[in-house]
Amino acid sequence: MSTPSRDLVPPPAAFAARARVGSLERYRQLYAESVTNPEGFWARQAERLHWSQKWTRVVDADFTTARIRWFEGGKLNACFNCVDRHVDAGHGNQIAILWEGDDPGHDERITYRELQRRVARFANVLKKHGVAKGDRVCIYLPMIPELAISVLACARIGAIHSVVFGGFSAHSLRDRIQDAGAKLLITADEGVRGGKAVPLKRIADEAVAECPSITRVLVKQRTGKWVPTVDGRDAWIDEELAHPAIGDDCPCEPMDAEDPLFILYTSGSTGKPKGVLHTTGGYLVGASFTHELVFDHQPGDVYWCTADVGWVTGHSYIVYGPLANRATTLMFEGVPTFPDVGRFWDVVDKHQVSVFYTAPTALRALMQHGDAPVLQRSRKSLRLLGSVGEPINPEVWRWYHRVVGDSRCPIVDTWWQTETGAILIAPLPGATPQKPGSATLPLPGVRPLLVDDEGREVKGDGELSGNLCIAAAWPSIMRSVWGDPQRFFDTYFKRFPGRYFTGDGARRDADGYWWITGRVDDVLNVSGHRIGTAEVESAIVTHPACAEAAVVGFPHEIKGEGICAFVIVKAGIATDAALEQAVKDAVRREIGAIAAPDRVHFVPGLPKTRSGKIMRRILRQLARGVTDDLGDTTTLADPAIVTQVVAAVTGRTAHPPTA
Ligand code: PRX
Repeated sequence: MSTPSRDLVPPPAAFAARARVGSLERYRQLYAESVTNPEGFWARQAERLHWSQKWTRVVDADFTTARIRWFEGGKLNACFNCVDRHVDAGHGNQIAILWEGDDPGHDERITYRELQRRVARFANVLKKHGVAKGDRVCIYLPMIPELAISVLACARIGAIHSVVFGGFSAHSLRDRIQDAGAKLLITADEGVRGGKAVPLKRIADEAVAECPSITRVLVKQRTGKWVPTVDGRDAWIDEELAHPAIGDDCPCEPMDAEDPLFILYTSGSTGKPKGVLHTTGGYLVGASFTHELVFDHQPGDVYWCTADVGWVTGHSYIVYGPLANRATTLMFEGVPTFPDVGRFWDVVDKHQVSVFYTAPTALRALMQHGDAPVLQRSRKSLRLLGSVGEPINPEVWRWYHRVVGDSRCPIVDTWWQTETGAILIAPLPGATPQKPGSATLPLPGVRPLLVDDEGREVKGDGELSGNLCIAAAWPSIMRSVWGDPQRFFDTYFKRFPGRYFTGDGARRDADGYWWITGRVDDVLNVSGHRIGTAEVESAIVTHPACAEAAVVGFPHEIKGEGICAFVIVKAGIATDAALEQAVKDAVRREIGAIAAPDRVHFVPGLPKTRSGKIMRRILRQLARGVTDDLGDTTTLADPAIVTQVVAAVTGRTAHPPTA
């Protein structure tokens, strides 16, 4: 079944006429060139950056061994490329960062010159506190300018940043600090979102109490609330920055192309989150190239990506990509619904945003409130819209196009991952006819393919589906799992030898368009956030009443996927509403509110195969409310358990807790 052509939305002629890539033919030329001569293609793309020393070899990559190196022999500094070179070229007065606070009356404009000064001073503070090249710095901050500034300050001196999203719990923060062996933590007294305070310093204190590697905690006063400080360990960022010994100059450390730039933790199907390691040269080439092409970056654009810098989207498309391209990038501290559901469009009008990039979950939440809050705002400045993080439902795509974009703005549905560093599949807005719900075509330099469960490539001209793999390396692919190269190989290169396995399933239609169907592993996508079922299960059983847990996703109107937990309690424990709440709280405490189950079912047992593996397929059906069509249950160790679980879930019989 191929998608009917009436669903093809061509780029508007006026957009295409001004676009960097203005026709499908031009895209096809670029693509053909990129796959016939990848070295030549990527070498040309790398020229967009400033290199203090040119590379000697473009690529040395082998997916059978997971060895990947780009631009070896080259030297550059990511901060210099994002800040200093623009000032040197005479653009110091251009706005680099437009900051919009949670409170609509609170904003800040930071020029490239001012950014250079603030980053250099921040870097000098880091040096004063003993941070040197190769050291890990953990950043646990709200969406305030200091978040971008501290990231760039690390890059300036060659320290490796590990940003932890401000919604993660003390335990998650602790695990990430310990895994990275971070020396210094940067945090704030409190964060502010939707008018509510988030006690970051208190959470950080709890985490750091179990992190002997941390010698210093730098604290930004965001709200000025009194927070306890630890003598000899904590210092106020603003006092440090104002110190007379801290100068405005700080040289940029020349980094090897393959020197680490950052670690970012992400969830997988097993074990604890892994530290995805990105290096300097390839990552920055990828972030910059894709930001320019996919967002058709033009001088004068006001570009707004609504993600948090705590996720990869914020790294690549709030900080590194846009700043490398000398864009004006907007950073938003708040939420889409505060003070009201028109906030996004108020910000668009206030700052005359031209390119807007958000997640389907936010659009679904806003769409519920109807068209009026959107139509009451002008939005005339918008010229391009983007989507990321999860498949966008076609009806949400159409609403975004018709209502938000007044049927005038192309939509770029961008598929990528923390591991890929940059967008891999997306339309070029002036070239690619869009299909609602499809990420469309691979970017130049990207070779996706489908393989079946046995690892055979699924080929042909018609509609195909399978596991989404990538055939060859691109510059911004991750280089390793921090501290665990074996896990890097095992996770991405073992199942389908010689290919990078994304963990996603996909469909390719007869036009060659890609449709991402979602994860094929035990990873959930909740409001665009990746959450491993194993992590949530481990969190649940930290509660002393819980013996065992199994977690699955179910379709959720706003979040995309909701979390449903099946929990076996220990003998003699009463399963009441209080315990249900306690289970949710345990997950909040262990991981963070984003991973809290939407539903908890207490069950007498779990459907398991004879080898002890939980049959999640059955639980997924139950979580969707299906109780009569559970498929083949004959391979279960104890098929009778299904009836008991169904009874427990539907509340038809009381169930005795098992031991
Ligand atoms: O399942 C895919 C989904 O998000 C996963 C990557 O999550 P993360 O590493 O947290 O990065 C999110 C932001 C890039 C993918 O494996 N995903 C991401 N973008 C899309 C998507 N699914 C469908 N369509 C997309 N545009």
